[in-house]
Amino acid sequence: MAKNYPHVVTPPPGPNARRIIELDERYASPSYIKEYPLVVERGEGAMIEDVDGNRYLDFMAGIAVASTGHSHPKVVAAIREAAGKFLHICSTDFYYEGFARVCERLAKLAPGPGRHKVFLTNSGTEATEGAIKLVRAHTKRQNIIAFRGAFHGRSMGAISLDASKVRYRRLFGPLLPGVYHLSYVDPYQCRICGNPDCADPMACAVREAEALFHERVAPDEVAAVFIEPVLGEGGYIVPPREFLQYWRRFCDEHGAVLVFDEVQSGVGRTGKMFASEHFEVYPDVMLLAKGLASGMPLGAIVAKESVMTWGHGTHGSTFGGNPVCCAAALATLDLIEGSLSGNAERIGAVLMRGAKELARKHEIIGDVRGIGLMIGLKFVRDRATKEPYVGLVPELERAALAKGLLLLGCGRSTIRLAPPLVIDEEDAATALRILDEVISEVRVPA
Ligand SMILES: Cc1ncc(COP(=O)(O)O)c(C=O)c1O
Repeated sequence: MAKNYPHVVTPPPGPNARRIIELDERYASPSYIKEYPLVVERGEGAMIEDVDGNRYLDFMAGIAVASTGHSHPKVVAAIREAAGKFLHICSTDFYYEGFARVCERLAKLAPGPGRHKVFLTNSGTEATEGAIKLVRAHTKRQNIIAFRGAFHGRSMGAISLDASKVRYRRLFGPLLPGVYHLSYVDPYQCRICGNPDCADPMACAVREAEALFHERVAPDEVAAVFIEPVLGEGGYIVPPREFLQYWRRFCDEHGAVLVFDEVQSGVGRTGKMFASEHFEVYPDVMLLAKGLASGMPLGAIVAKESVMTWGHGTHGSTFGGNPVCCAAALATLDLIEGSLSGNAERIGAVLMRGAKELARKHEIIGDVRGIGLMIGLKFVRDRATKEPYVGLVPELERAALAKGLLLLGCGRSTIRLAPPLVIDEEDAATALRILDEVISEVRVPA
């Protein structure tokens, strides 16, 4: 059957959208970002319809969340059934099957050796927050290593680890003490020596880490290392395997906890259930959220049993692991395991080939990187210097919106392709065609 999207009948924002935007702007907190004037009426699969009847191809999935597509019938049916039974009883204090089943499922899915246990949260930032408490309680140490470009959430502990944009931290200090940031290893561009042709960014990173341990913090006082195995908000960067291996070794040698934040990369997005499986490097603690319940608020701390040692009553949550969210998660995991992570791998490869072709055609695409349906196109002013093309991404987003494609940026000058995992080859071809058009049309003066 022919697809009924993209289909733009009224340039967004149309009259209905404008009314809602006005209402929102009058009463909602000014802290929200609001990337562009998309006002959603409904969604289905990879299609989003706005309140003026425009239909878009969604290549951002509500920031990499709508893993099974919008309102997947099986997820909606599971939500309806659970909601008809009970909405809340508080998992911290009482029991229900859906909660225990999600914990079981994630503990069994957790990659790497050993048995695992699970704590359920409402969001990614709560998973980060809980993990900070867990690693402190477990190691009796305080210091944490995090990475430039990292994003772990917006609560106080999480922003102390963040280093992707200063706006997340500015005005909110003092932050957690004992957090040390090192450079994430970007194979395209060494962030340490500044040489655009640096042949060995990993060697630079090792030197940087050694200097930290020589000058500022003793390795045996490090509680944990928090890493996104594929950098998300910071630019969709896939590190070399040695980077993750280095920190695995460090944690093993010094008794620190290796935490992988898979809030964005987890649950099938990269074509495997978890990104760590691509590298065959496994953490002690894994954080999940975003795609876990297809858009219902659910996050998780999945830890080795030997690490999840905090005692009775040390941590809990009123809403975390809500029965309706747990039902959505079980339906989501069935779909991801059933076919969607395989689809992400297959269509991801098609999209990657197409994006690389775009890079051959357009000089301003400096790098295309990613795994599965987590792909970044980095825009540069000059391929030789690799200077980021700052200011271009918002223009591309708006031009794509007008043509019926929903995109989202990350890093300083990267477009992320993070569609629902249900897209097919036709969706991929449509997105690539519109991307090609907007890249040809849009320029920002220097
Ligand atoms: C890697 C990563 N960690 C944590 C978070 C925070 O998640 P939440 O917005 O659900 O608090 C995000 C959100 O973008 C993320 O991408």
